[in-house]
Amino acid sequence: MHGKFITLEGIDGAGKSTHLAWLAGFIQDRGLRAVVTREPGGTTLGEKLRALLLDKNEAMHLETEALLMFAARREHLNKVIAPALAQGVWVLCDRFTDATFAYQGSGRGADWERLKTLENWVQGSVQPDLTLLFDVAPAVGRERAGSIKTPDRFEQERDDFFQRVREGYLRRAREDATRVRVLDAGASIEQIQRQVRAIVEPLCP
Ligand code: ADP
Ligand code: TYD
Repeated sequence: MHGKFITLEGIDGAGKSTHLAWLAGFIQDRGLRAVVTREPGGTTLGEKLRALLLDKNEAMHLETEALLMFAARREHLNKVIAPALAQGVWVLCDRFTDATFAYQGSGRGADWERLKTLENWVQGSVQPDLTLLFDVAPAVGRERAGSIKTPDRFEQERDDFFQRVREGYLRRAREDATRVRVLDAGASIEQIQRQVRAIVEPLCP
C-alpha cells in the first residue's frame, strides 16, 4: 500500500499550520499513519538550509534562493517523503514546490520555465496527490502572522510581494487544477475544516 502525499500552501498567515495540525488528527483518527513535515526543512540538512534561507542577515540572489529550496527538497524527498509513502504512511507537508513557484517565481521574479526544469530534475514525476491552497488577501495574512512572532526574511516583505505570491499560487492552481484545491482562507476555521474534510475523506481507505 502507498501512502498519500498532501501539501498545504498559502501566503504567510493563511492558516496552514492550524489546518495541518487538525488534518493530522483527522487522518490518525481513521487509523492511518501520518508524518507531519515542512519545507524548507524536514531533514537535518534541510533545517540548516532553512535557517540560512530565513535569516534576515543573509541576502542572496533569487536563483540561489530557488536552488537552495530545491536542494533541501531533494534531501527531503529521499530521506523522508519517499520512504514514508513506500511504507503506506501519509505525508502531510507544510509547503512544497508550489511555494517555490509562488515565492521565488512570482514573488521574486525567477523564470517560471527554469523552475519547471528544476522541478522536473528534482522530482521526476513525483507530485503531491493533493494540494490544499489556502487563499487569502495579504492584509489578512499579515495581520494573522504578525500577531505571533518577529518576521523572518520572507515575512518582512511588503503586501505587494505577497500579492504576487498569491497570484503565483493561483497560477499553479490553474496549471494543475486536478491536484490543487483552492480554499477561501478568509472564512472561519470551522468552515474551512468542513471543506478540508469533504476533500480528504474520499481519499481515505
Ligand atoms: P500559517 O501557518 O499559514 O502561517 P497559521 O496557521 O500559523 O498560519 O495561522 C496564523 C494565525 O491566524 C494563528 O493565530 C491562527 O490561529 C490564526 N488563524 C488561522 N486561520 C484562521 C481563520 N480562518 N480565521 C481566523 N484566524 C485564523
Ligand atoms: P513558513 O513555512 O511560513 O514557516 P513559519 O510559519 O514558521 O514562518 O516559512 C517558510 C518561508 O519560506 C515562507 O515565508 C515561505 C518561504 N518559502 C519559499 O520562499 N520558497 C519555498 O519553496 C518554500 C518551501 C518556502
